[in-house]
Amino acid sequence: MQNCLADNMYETDALVSQYCEFHYGDSYFGVENYPACCARLCCEIMAERKRGAALDLGCAVGRTSFELAREFSSVTGLDFSRRFIAVATRMAEEGKIAYEIPLEGELAAPVERRLAEFDLDAVRRRVKFYPGDALSLPQEFSGYDLIFAGNLIDRLKNPRVFLSAIHQRLVPGGLLVLTSPYTWLNEFTPRSEWLGGFSAGGRDFTTLEGLRTSLNPHFSILGKPRDIPFVIRETARKYQHSIAEMTVWERCR
Ligand SMILES: C[S@@+](CC[C@H](N)C(=O)[O-])C[C@H]1O[C@@H](n2cnc3c(N)ncnc32)[C@H](O)[C@@H]1O
Repeated sequence: MQNCLADNMYETDALVSQYCEFHYGDSYFGVENYPACCARLCCEIMAERKRGAALDLGCAVGRTSFELAREFSSVTGLDFSRRFIAVATRMAEEGKIAYEIPLEGELAAPVERRLAEFDLDAVRRRVKFYPGDALSLPQEFSGYDLIFAGNLIDRLKNPRVFLSAIHQRLVPGGLLVLTSPYTWLNEFTPRSEWLGGFSAGGRDFTTLEGLRTSLNPHFSILGKPRDIPFVIRETARKYQHSIAEMTVWERCR
């Protein structure tokens, strides 16, 4: 199991609220809801393929999992944060959640969101959420047609370990879809484990090169990487605007 200060960040009130709004709240600056956009692109990419079982790794409060369930027969959402999983499970069981969003200083506003607002109420029984560690998945988390890992790799302690084993959880020909803004930070990933974003031996190494190196033995890349912007609201007057890169990898048959 992971065990460092940064892991606990996703258990705090501030981050639970931030991710509830990121997944189920308003869109800001005209940028499409990111968890929904990622799921829509996954479904488009899988349009001609079997859409049986999907795994949403690092699912946070669950929006991508519900969106994937529009097309997939069953979706499993897994996250290291028990508080995120508790919110996602409440959404699956009750079809609604309540949370507060910060305005300024100590001021906050109550928000209630329902799956029905997104036309997702009918699919919620196809989705199950579990707390867990992507770096040591129990054996039963196997046999997926699609694994989506959204903004996860640069939050793992050892992304190479994750990438070297993840093919075992896909069916042959199954797809691994990764998104990440490649925000490498020592508090999540020790510098020695970064996939890219550094110079060595007189040349620059990108994360895309690192992904190719780690995934090459078992995957081939499909299509071109694409940019997906996202906005995370911190307060009424502070937002993070980032651009993730999405790559799609097919497990060798
Ligand atoms: C940057 S957030 C992205 C969440 C979500 N995919 C999204 O795009 O909104 C990273 C997520 O990965 C989870 N996480 C971090 N390390 C993990 C691990 N080892 N196993 C499973 N989840 C992990 C965190 O709890 C957090 O929910």
